[in-house]
Amino acid sequence: MTSISDIRIIELSRIEDPRGNLSFIESETHIPFKIARTYWIYDVPGGQSRGGHAYKNLHEFIVAISGSLDLEIDDGKLKQRLQLNRSYYGIYVPNGIWRKLENFSTNSLCMILSSEEYNADDYLRDYDEFLKLKNDGIL
Ligand code: TYD
Repeated sequence: MTSISDIRIIELSRIEDPRGNLSFIESETHIPFKIARTYWIYDVPGGQSRGGHAYKNLHEFIVAISGSLDLEIDDGKLKQRLQLNRSYYGIYVPNGIWRKLENFSTNSLCMILSSEEYNADDYLRDYDEFLKLKNDGIL
């Protein structure tokens, strides 16, 4: 079972340089899982949100590479809202957490590193089903 206390803000290395700064992520070194997939969310129209689901098995690391957005996380008991607005830190979210991305700033770019390849069967899209699995101690 996972809860909001398993969420981690992970600060990444930042190599500052007058020519421009540089940050990096190595699988299993800077984040606690092996990266199976990377995707990014961009061109989000004002007022739109993405996500609004949980995963049964997938772990992920979410970074606002550019601009800002809010991450709402919910473990069935507690909800928290975190703002992402720097390219040198991100949020580790384990499986079993309902998460939603919203308040994207204009031209923001959100990168998500996942522990699994895309699998529609790993999604929980029904909040009541999610709550039941949490309350039953299954997720
Ligand atoms: P989804 O993860 O459902 O995003 P949201 O919860 O914000 O709607 O992804 C939207 C669509 O994109 C979905 O139909 C499946 C597809 N998709 C892939 O094919 N591969 C991927 O890696 C991801 C993240 C999504």
